[in-house]
Amino acid sequence: MSFQIRPLSDALGAEITGIDVSRPLDESTFAAIHEAHLAHLVLVFRDQQLTPQQQIDFSQRFGPLDVHPSQGKAHLEGYPDILVISTKRENGRDVGIRNAGPKWHSDLAYRERPALGSMLYALELPDRGGDTGFANMYKAYDALPADLKRAVDGKRALFHSTRSSIDARHPIIRTHPETGQKSIFVNPQLTTGIEGMDAAEGDALLNMIYFHNTRRTFIYWHQWKPGDLVFWDNRCVQHIADHTRLDDPDYIRHMHRTTIAGDVPF
Ligand SMILES: [Fe+2]
Repeated sequence: MSFQIRPLSDALGAEITGIDVSRPLDESTFAAIHEAHLAHLVLVFRDQQLTPQQQIDFSQRFGPLDVHPSQGKAHLEGYPDILVISTKRENGRDVGIRNAGPKWHSDLAYRERPALGSMLYALELPDRGGDTGFANMYKAYDALPADLKRAVDGKRALFHSTRSSIDARHPIIRTHPETGQKSIFVNPQLTTGIEGMDAAEGDALLNMIYFHNTRRTFIYWHQWKPGDLVFWDNRCVQHIADHTRLDDPDYIRHMHRTTIAGDVPF
């Protein structure tokens, strides 16, 4: 099966058209998608029509799935592998995670084995707002000033989940296990400090890195279209959701996420 790849920005991201990922993919098609994902970091599959099981099946081509700590109360009924990201409320209760990703982060970075990648499928979208920002952490590492590179060289950071008590320690600079490229792994949502540094010193250093990480040239903002399935690589990408309309009752954004398990960062 052949498909088309069109880069979406100079930072990262590519649009994939001409493929229906609800169908089983042959090995060569899968290999081409895998290669495109490593090259572009974020793939946007347009015009998909996926049942929950079809999304799970496609996601599992990339590895075993991970279950989010919130999934106990935010998974799709009958599908523990699917996390519901939604602003909808039913019977006075949120149907999923309402304010997902308010700050830049990489999914499940507070786990000993953070997520390899996440796939987010848009089911209902608002007329405006709800975009997702993606930042290329390879580019951020490559452009990191030499004094900052020296300051974090070989150091590890502490990560903590706000929704559970899980925490972990990971290298600030990690090496991608498939491409061998280095990227910045600390983020303002889940990183809480630097191992062996006092809080003030660690925070000051982290804040300089966060400021650097969000340079415009590293970022692509995705404006969702119905049927988009977006697959990002958490090992070298950070993301954020624009939820400035979260308190607006007309702001309906309803999505299904699958999460592919990753390995221990090094
Ligand atoms: Fe996220």
